[in-house]
Amino acid sequence: MADDNQKQPQASEHEEELTLTNRQGHPVTDNQNVRTVGNRGPITLENYNFLEKISHFDRERIPERVVHARGAGAHGVFEAYGTAGDEPISKYTRAKLFQEKGKQTPVFVRFSTVVHGNHSPETLRDPRGFATKFYTEDGNWDLVGNNLKIFFIRDPLKFPDMVHAFKPDPVTNVQDMERFFDFLANSPESTHMATFLFSPWGIPANYRQMQGSGVNTYKWVNKDGEAVLIKYHWEPVEQGIQNLTQEQANQVQGLDFNHATVDLYDAIDRGEYPEWELCVQIMSDDYHPELDFDPLDPTKLWPEDQFPFLPVGKMTLNRNPVDYFTEVEQVAFGTGVLVDGLDFSDDKLLQGRTFSYSDTQRHRVGANYQQLPINAPKSNVATNQSGGQMRYEPDTAPKQNPHVNYEPSSLGGLKEAPKAGADHEPHYYDVNLMRQKLDRPNDFAQAGETYRNFEDWERNELVANIAANLAQCADVISDKFIANLQQADTEYAQRVTDELAKIKADPSNKPLHRANKAAKLAQEKGHDAK
Ligand code: HEM
Repeated sequence: MADDNQKQPQASEHEEELTLTNRQGHPVTDNQNVRTVGNRGPITLENYNFLEKISHFDRERIPERVVHARGAGAHGVFEAYGTAGDEPISKYTRAKLFQEKGKQTPVFVRFSTVVHGNHSPETLRDPRGFATKFYTEDGNWDLVGNNLKIFFIRDPLKFPDMVHAFKPDPVTNVQDMERFFDFLANSPESTHMATFLFSPWGIPANYRQMQGSGVNTYKWVNKDGEAVLIKYHWEPVEQGIQNLTQEQANQVQGLDFNHATVDLYDAIDRGEYPEWELCVQIMSDDYHPELDFDPLDPTKLWPEDQFPFLPVGKMTLNRNPVDYFTEVEQVAFGTGVLVDGLDFSDDKLLQGRTFSYSDTQRHRVGANYQQLPINAPKSNVATNQSGGQMRYEPDTAPKQNPHVNYEPSSLGGLKEAPKAGADHEPHYYDVNLMRQKLDRPNDFAQAGETYRNFEDWERNELVANIAANLAQCADVISDKFIANLQQADTEYAQRVTDELAKIKADPSNKPLHRANKAAKLAQEKGHDAK
């Protein structure tokens, strides 16, 4: 018999923590049955818990990244060497994170593939993204790079067209190598990048065993305001580099299309922390007439014998994300996110990128995306910005008069920071506005060198991969692409020509399912594709 005076058992603190609630903090006592008129329904509309649960579910997705949608991430730490090669790093940059030997800065890295959507296979032939957020004492620095050291194009105006050609066909929703090679063949500056992409370097074995590169040319500025041009490179010193042949990639994909995410997560989970050394190449900040390319051209490698890789620090990834969405999906990197001592060069592609990243993130994540914990700096933030969707805390500094959300003011508002060093004097230009490409495009020479520098098995793979893909293209495209290869290296062009002829002559090669829709339509409509 119940004793009315007996105390009801109290939920322990732990049990309270485990109690299911809705977002309003109301405990949920029945999570199996909606409230209905009789047990056969209909449902009533005042079912708050059900409405909250289902309408939040309906909004679980945010737009995926327009490129680099598939990714994996991890936290870690960057440790500075205090030097660049034999020189103290202060000779080149005053950026605080690099100055002292052993100085540690927390980081978050997101690796990615580029073309296909979230959950697409991680074995695809595609550049890999390698984006790093450094949470420095001076605010965030993002180094948004790829595994390959160069890019397809040098003008940002071409980027949307390039991505359209590489992504699935707007009619069939299937990636079509004819459209892909149509863009490449008509953009000769992409010949060098195509040479890397269709070699085994286009399919890194996983994220741990690949390099990274900032690709674009940046600047470093020292305390006297003197600048040098910089390229950044990540080297996987401990893990080494491993790439896959097409055949190996097919096998991996047949077993697991998430292999790179699994590899990274499991390695960190078992305490095998991947490491990369950050190296820079340095060039004086000028036009360099002695080079056969422009130092601001992202389709070019800087020759290592003239511009050696100088190690400046080491990064270790040692902590897996707790929640994929709030960390890996909502993280937002941008090339404009620099700290004092690091600067832009005049590289046009870099400047185009710098607009694009924060623009897309205001759409993809929201106007206050920088306030999310993964994106917020770990240093002080005090702005006079206010409002906007999903703003959840004011920036007001403790000593600030909260009425003063403007600057300048004599009433106790925020004040401008003192300068950390001399201003870097930008170059003086006496030229007209124009639309023209760089003076030394030299689209083919480095593509030929890269071909010749490959090992035999890499060259064999490259030739086989290009020929297999060109076999899916109309002649007008394969002819044009091979004409570009001819200017890079005659042997390269001849081998692709011979391999292509062999594939086409073999009756056992079935016509491909992708079926050259674009070229067929062009022919039907009488476009003489030239
Ligand atoms: C992601 C634009 C070139 C590396 C993105 C995103 C955009 C974009 C809009 C999606 C960002 C987001 O939703 O958060 C551009 C434009 C380029 C360009 C306009 C040229 C004009 C490059 C180059 C590299 C690169 C040259 C390599 C150095 C990346 C990486 C990501 C990315 C790694 C993924 C970042 C992440 O993991 O969140 N790019 N991009 N992009 N881009 Fe670019």
